[in-house]
Amino acid sequence: MTKIAVIGAGPSGLAALRAFQSAKMKGAEIPEIVCFEKQSDWGGLWNYTWRTGVDENGEPVHCSMYRYLWTNGPKEGLEFADYSFEEHFGKQIASYPPRAVMMDYIEGRVKKANVRDWIRFSTVVRWVEYNEATNDFTVTVHDMVADKVTKDRFDYVICASGHFSSPNVPEYPGFDQFYGRIVHAHDFRDAREFAGQDVLLVGASYSAEDIGSQCWKYGAKTVTTSYRSAPMGFNWPDNWEEKPALERVEGKTAFFKDGTSKQVDAIILCTGYKHYFPFLPDDLRLKTKNRLATHDLYKGVVYVHNPKMFFLGMQDQWFTFNMFDAQAWYVRDIILGRIDVPADKQVLLDDVAEREAREEASDDVKYAIKYQGAYVKELIADTDYPSFDVDGACKAFFEWKQHKIDDIMGFRNNCYKSLMTGTMAPIHHTPWKDALDDSMEAYLKN
Ligand SMILES: Cc1cc2nc3c(=O)[nH]c(=O)nc-3n(C[C@H](O)[C@H](O)[C@H](O)COP(=O)(O)OP(=O)(O)OC[C@H]3O[C@@H](n4cnc5c(N)ncnc54)[C@H](O)[C@@H]3O)c2cc1C
Ligand SMILES: NC(=O)c1ccc[n+]([C@@H]2O[C@H](COP(=O)([O-])OP(=O)(O)OC[C@H]3O[C@@H](n4cnc5c(N)ncnc54)[C@H](OP(=O)(O)O)[C@@H]3O)[C@@H](O)[C@H]2O)c1
Repeated sequence: MTKIAVIGAGPSGLAALRAFQSAKMKGAEIPEIVCFEKQSDWGGLWNYTWRTGVDENGEPVHCSMYRYLWTNGPKEGLEFADYSFEEHFGKQIASYPPRAVMMDYIEGRVKKANVRDWIRFSTVVRWVEYNEATNDFTVTVHDMVADKVTKDRFDYVICASGHFSSPNVPEYPGFDQFYGRIVHAHDFRDAREFAGQDVLLVGASYSAEDIGSQCWKYGAKTVTTSYRSAPMGFNWPDNWEEKPALERVEGKTAFFKDGTSKQVDAIILCTGYKHYFPFLPDDLRLKTKNRLATHDLYKGVVYVHNPKMFFLGMQDQWFTFNMFDAQAWYVRDIILGRIDVPADKQVLLDDVAEREAREEASDDVKYAIKYQGAYVKELIADTDYPSFDVDGACKAFFEWKQHKIDDIMGFRNNCYKSLMTGTMAPIHHTPWKDALDDSMEAYLKN
């Protein structure tokens, strides 16, 4: 029997399990699937832990999420096309759920699909090797509970190990002498730690914006963000300032490229993440930047140097859950023989080159959103994943962008119509900046 190894049970890996389970429900014969997950539970980044550094087994902690995290885009853009928020919660809910609410939703679909038994939890994939002679893979895993290392053979490998977990950690002169805490966003957990402090965030993307907003919301004295390329440029609260690139620190003073300086108590490096696959040898390892057209992936999922190896969710993300689904359904159909991958490697490379050129044709944000929307549509068109109004999702993202420009501390108070059920989300009972309790019970009290 054909055997498939899935690496990771985050939203992407779970999409793969759901894709095969859905084919099985419709009468298809499916291969044997074994999903290896190093954490003791599913959900990937959404599976929150207080831990930082290493986990209970001495493995790098995967979680980059923090307490009080709410989605940073409207849930209507990420909704599963085969499992709506309304189906899960029995009612429509507001548009920017906190992490715990999202985790419940992610779990709901896979509990219903009954695929938990396909996953081997607390099991780290250590190494994957391709066997030329037998055309298959040997996967070496470490079961942390049994403390046993085993090898098994698989016909296909689907890597869904995520790419927002291994931090990119730059160093600036004076860091080793700084009188305060220096932490990467990956290890940030609770904004209350910084209440009353002057906080500096290095970086000008989503983590800088959101962690800065958390610190502001939970009582930081001042927030300073420092950009290398361009400022975020929002209409920030009075005690928030944007500075150009950090140059060095001396004692507690941070010096910036424009010659200005500022006393700070803590530095949070919001400098992004690295695609990091310590379990993959050179011939199977994806090497790419965080971009929409990943290097070396035909159709964004098939590894061009070995088309029996697939990657899910490796793109930079406007679309998330329903894009992972589109990818998972597409990979499933390749494995089930419903979709052909061209045998000529040059065709695969040309596909990647075309995607890269098209991405690079414009820096415009709306262009990028539409580009990824077109990609989602392209994959969905070839499978039986329920089609949905992808253009409507793009439109929701455009509105979201505008809402942030209008009011960066208030954009989460807006609501959107579900593209899956057509129902309008209710306005949340409490504005985001005043909603200090982010528990599921508090959020669902509408
Ligand atoms: C701080 C932060 C906030 C975010 N907020 C949002 C948001 O609001 N909305 C949104 O749509 N997206 C958000 N994202 C994007 C996020 O990438 C996706 O939502 C989603 O979690 C990606 O799913 P994934 O399965 O591809 O990867 P992950 O969620 O990273 O899951 C990968 C899984 O692989 C496992 N794994 C890794 N290595 C191994 C190994 N060697 N052996 C076994 N298992 C392994 C991990 O333990 C993990 O469970 C956020 C990301 C970050 C970092
Ligand atoms: N609430 C939420 O839902 C939430 C919160 C946080 C993050 N996220 C998600 O997490 C993902 C990652 O976001 P991210 O912001 O961590 O990473 P990111 O989008 O990759 O941005 C990295 C930032 O770090 C800067 N940078 C990189 N190296 C640097 C260096 N050496 N010195 C100074 N600056 C440097 C980059 O600047 P350049 O532009 O100059 O390269 C960029 O501003 C996104 O998908 C985001 O949506 C979601």
